[in-house]
Amino acid sequence: MGINLEEFNKLRDELQICNACELFMTRKNVVFGDGNPNAKILLIGEAPGECEDNTGLPFVGRGGKLLTEMLKEIGLKREEDYYIINMLKCRPPQNRDPRPNEMKACSKYLQRQIELIDPEIIVCVGRIAAMQLIKPDFKVTKEHGEFFEKDGRIYMGTFHPAAILRNMMQKPFAMEDLKKLKEYIDIHKYK
Ligand code: URA
Repeated sequence: MGINLEEFNKLRDELQICNACELFMTRKNVVFGDGNPNAKILLIGEAPGECEDNTGLPFVGRGGKLLTEMLKEIGLKREEDYYIINMLKCRPPQNRDPRPNEMKACSKYLQRQIELIDPEIIVCVGRIAAMQLIKPDFKVTKEHGEFFEKDGRIYMGTFHPAAILRNMMQKPFAMEDLKKLKEYIDIHKYK
């Protein structure tokens, strides 16, 4: 069964006019998500940056391009094989860390997106998403690439591409995580 597109588009429309936290005052665009909403893999990042705020699309800046390329390397294309979103749908000014009240305000939209997309695997891109969605004490340097089962879904946390751009030594580890993800997908025939 495919996604309920009517509900999905309704949620997108609802978000366009959201003013549940102060970020609505500084955003240019709400960044809802991108990719194939019928895919079995959902990637969840932190929050839109400047390029994402300008375009309304997630992971399109330097870090986003790197992540997209790394996923392509393991054979996953955005338009076909995964959907990608952020915890926060609006850009925090100067890309500061999301605040607890902002996370809380956005969590109902996030949960609804997860429910509607109904993915088999959720990849938490970076520490903030992994701490929120896998466990509060998630340590990305130690626990990246591990599979966690929670509420009937499989979760994995990996390095954020912005962190990889700051420290390229992390890239091979992140690639290993993505290869493990691909193996899991192949074994379970999610593609
Ligand atoms: N970083 C994120 O976590 N998300 C984006 O969309 C862009 C950069």
